[in-house]
Amino acid sequence: MNRRNFLSGVAGLLSPVALPEGAVATSLAGSSWALLSDTHIAGDLGERRHGVCMAANARKVIAEIVDRDGGDAGVIVNGDCAHLFGKGQDYANFSELVDPLIQSRRGLHLLLGNHDDRDAFSRACGCAGAESSLVPGKRTSFLPAEEANWFFLDSLETGRLVSGRIGEDQLIWLAAMLDRHKDKPAIVVAHHHLQPVGGKSASLGPGGGLKDSAALFKLLTSQRQVKAYLHGHTHRWGISQTREGLYVVNLPSTAYVFERPQPSGWVDARLYHHGMRVELRSLDSQHPDHGVPQFLRWRK
Ligand SMILES: [Fe+2]
Repeated sequence: MNRRNFLSGVAGLLSPVALPEGAVATSLAGSSWALLSDTHIAGDLGERRHGVCMAANARKVIAEIVDRDGGDAGVIVNGDCAHLFGKGQDYANFSELVDPLIQSRRGLHLLLGNHDDRDAFSRACGCAGAESSLVPGKRTSFLPAEEANWFFLDSLETGRLVSGRIGEDQLIWLAAMLDRHKDKPAIVVAHHHLQPVGGKSASLGPGGGLKDSAALFKLLTSQRQVKAYLHGHTHRWGISQTREGLYVVNLPSTAYVFERPQPSGWVDARLYHHGMRVELRSLDSQHPDHGVPQFLRWRK
């Protein structure tokens, strides 16, 4: 999407707030992020599951990101990079598939899911980068962008096939970091979804998510600068908002889905100081949600 098309597309979505001169250009332009999840790349590039070749889907998604000039501020892959057990060859193939993003100078931010293996990922995935030392034993990172601060959490709990956990150390780290960075909107990202907490919020997902959902949910909703929680894991696409005004964004899988008509694809996001525009890019262009922009206006 070129800049002119984008500005005309988003014009109706911006609020008529008066901005100081000089701030308008930056605020209108925003920054472009490509949001992916659950690529499930196998050691055999031709492997298929649920009728889908995962590598072929990833190739199409990555080619589209580059073609659309998407994600020039960063590409986020929200876990389950590997197929089932996080084998070395899964990550070797994953590295090869995402290489066009690296060659086109996009920053790549990789998170871990329940089908990943932390050690194999670090050893075999050439694009994984150095392990973070922010929280011992976890790949946790903090990415300050112009419009918002990103907090990437590692919800992989070794030995668990499906569920995940943020863990006390990461929760303490996140609480301290949020206290220190109240100046900008915060977006928190982890692979697993929030599970129902005491039946209080209808927008939280089903079981198989974060074992410590209640603690994370309390932290996210109590800090007003946290505007959104992004997760994958369910292989579904959807956006909900809690009664506290926190957006919960369920990123689709680039690979297979568990139930139709859920889409496979990615999310083209543009980040502003006051919110984020998100657009599903389904691999099936006939999907009813494909190409439909939604604007998430941040809570005050
Ligand atoms: Fe997955």
